[in-house]
Amino acid sequence: MTDLKNISTVKEDLDQYEVDHIFHSWSYQPTESPKRIVSAKGVRFRDENGKQFLDFSSCFVSHNIGHQDQRVVDAICEQAQTLCSFAPVFSTKPRALLSKILADITPGDLSRTFFTLGGTEANEAAVKICHQYTGRQKILSRYRSYHGGTAASMTLSVGDPRGWAQIPGGTQWVPVPQPYCYRCMFGHQYPECDLRCVKYIDEVIELEGGGEKVAGIIFEPVTGANGIIVPPDTYFPTLRKVCDKWGVLMIADEVMSGFGRTGKWFAMDHWDVVPDLMTLAKGITCGYVPLGAAIARKPIGDKFKEQFFSHGATYAGHALACAAAVRVIQVYEEDALIKNAEKMGNYLLAKSLELKDRHPCIGDVRGLGLFVGLELVKNRETKEPLIPLNAKVIPGMNPKLEVAKKIMELGMIAMAANPSNVIALAPPLIITKSEIDEGIAIMDKALEIADSYVYQ
Ligand SMILES: Cc1ncc(COP(=O)(O)O)c(C=O)c1O
Repeated sequence: MTDLKNISTVKEDLDQYEVDHIFHSWSYQPTESPKRIVSAKGVRFRDENGKQFLDFSSCFVSHNIGHQDQRVVDAICEQAQTLCSFAPVFSTKPRALLSKILADITPGDLSRTFFTLGGTEANEAAVKICHQYTGRQKILSRYRSYHGGTAASMTLSVGDPRGWAQIPGGTQWVPVPQPYCYRCMFGHQYPECDLRCVKYIDEVIELEGGGEKVAGIIFEPVTGANGIIVPPDTYFPTLRKVCDKWGVLMIADEVMSGFGRTGKWFAMDHWDVVPDLMTLAKGITCGYVPLGAAIARKPIGDKFKEQFFSHGATYAGHALACAAAVRVIQVYEEDALIKNAEKMGNYLLAKSLELKDRHPCIGDVRGLGLFVGLELVKNRETKEPLIPLNAKVIPGMNPKLEVAKKIMELGMIAMAANPSNVIALAPPLIITKSEIDEGIAIMDKALEIADSYVYQ
């Protein structure tokens, strides 16, 4: 038995604890400890050897306001001194305040929130609300999606190899295509396609039992981990009409795309479409304390005044997390970060397009705000992907991971370990032009590795 008071904290022992005692996410369990991070500030962080890195991923697109903002740390400390948490049947000031703020900043009449501990649980809650509200069984979800690691969220993460080990559960799901124009599943081009992918959804809803059976459709407004897929402008307005025709609820998973990431509060704001349910996490607290949320439109929320709401959790609205979220959301406004995301996002996209001119491994560049993806190919003509889809779950050669390793050696992290062929660039919204230049210069060098796999 370990001497709890005198447990060893020397580097070698900490490394061994990592290797022996932790399940590391979405990976074969490592034989060496991952890099240990000891501090972070703004867009940079440091490892235990004192090496500094530029964060071009915002830690899985969560630290939108940057690391260790003193205003948020103070708000958390202040709340901790008063009341860390309390049973959710009671009210706390931070939870009440946050519910009102979310009702104000989210689109339309989204107004009643269930608080969770993170993104996947927010999706679980939204799916349950959707089933309970409509009384129907089926949820449509789009290939190349990621909605989280728990049962229903993972079941709905169709086409993401991380979901292949999942025994379907929590919902009856029906997969439909993405508006992935670079690799359209119908071989069409926008706008001549006349949104074949939405027509397909309309037909699938009918075939699956229409308004009798289909409860909702869940989607990432801008698909994140599976490839920074930005839909064409008419996509969501048209999808809204199809859903209204059948009374099918739209669940917008804004866990990654929300809170200023795309240059507006929420990605759905780009198309003026109000979803019926929206899920949030990551940028809601920027990781200072874990929190997620599922917010519903007023008629949906109101229905549960007469109908039993069959969901709950001990930490539904943890006071520390809600206090952090209130302060984080004020910081977005105080520092005009959403405007900065739009401005710097345009700059990042322009600079990324310049990378495409220099690197034959880049097949496509796309993005919205500070959410930019570089899609890697072996050949631009044939669009042969750099890695097969199963590279994420089959051990062996994955050239994208070699690029990721090089990026880290050069003093930066980007989102490169996701299952798609895309390296996502998503720095904190406080990023400046010169920091973007620094990141692009690192990408310029690291992409040479992927270029070496290109054939003409
Ligand atoms: C779009 C989307 N939804 C849900 C999740 C799950 O969030 P969490 O990891 O907080 O459970 C993620 C995580 O990356 C995500 O990108």
